[in-house]
Amino acid sequence: MPEATLYPEERAALGKAGEARRLEFTTVRHCARRALGRLGLPPTPLLPGMRGAPRWPDGVAGSMTHCAGYRAAAVAHCSDVRALGIDAEPHEPLAEGLLDYIAVPDERGPVSRLVTQHPEVHWDRLLFCAKEAVYKAWFPVTQRWLSFHDAEVSLSPDGSFRARILAAPPPGQPVPPGGFEGRWLARNGFLLACATDPRPV
Ligand SMILES: CC(C)(COP(=O)(O)OP(=O)(O)OC[C@H]1O[C@@H](n2cnc3c(N)ncnc32)[C@H](O)[C@@H]1OP(=O)(O)O)[C@@H](O)C(=O)NCCC(=O)NCCS
Repeated sequence: MPEATLYPEERAALGKAGEARRLEFTTVRHCARRALGRLGLPPTPLLPGMRGAPRWPDGVAGSMTHCAGYRAAAVAHCSDVRALGIDAEPHEPLAEGLLDYIAVPDERGPVSRLVTQHPEVHWDRLLFCAKEAVYKAWFPVTQRWLSFHDAEVSLSPDGSFRARILAAPPPGQPVPPGGFEGRWLARNGFLLACATDPRPV
């Protein structure tokens, strides 16, 4: 994407990153500015804020993701959704032992059943992807860390998922009562997940 460029303040925020990092940081911001344009918003610098969460224009909920061969950004008016998070992963199995690290006990049985019933999907990697999307939706509104064991994700073969937050909600910032809602997709060698708190602000 030769047309993808950074604002000077974004270049400064990136610092002395290597070439791969500079390219992903630049191209994903190009995607994000195009997405903002579709909401009728002008291009603007998108600087990393607390713990790396991007700072979106006021009134916008958004998220960005990159992995080798793929970048994406999603944005929405907060009057439509309170929070959203997206994540992309290569459609490959998780490294040995990682499922035990990221899954809470109640997620393991359903994932094993899905593996048997729909072996064409790497459900372990999808669980990871969905949880990262949940974290990216959770963090900007709470400014709180969320470990992999602080949320329970139920994946469904119909392309949806739901995430129940097990951690105590921060005072005054109740989590969505029905949990985060999600959609997932396995396509062209990638797994994609998007989690939202669908309540408007
Ligand atoms: C932050 C994290 C989710 C990023 O995921 P990743 O697969 O490594 O990388 P991705 O390319 O998909 O996403 C990176 C982008 O996420 C965004 N991001 C980074 N930190 C973020 C945060 N705290 N909140 C929201 N978005 C964040 C940024 O836009 C970043 O891109 P940029 O640095 O170019 O702006 C991951 O590194 C992490 O820390 N995970 C542990 C927390 C977690 O997932 N808990 C699960 C709870 S159930």
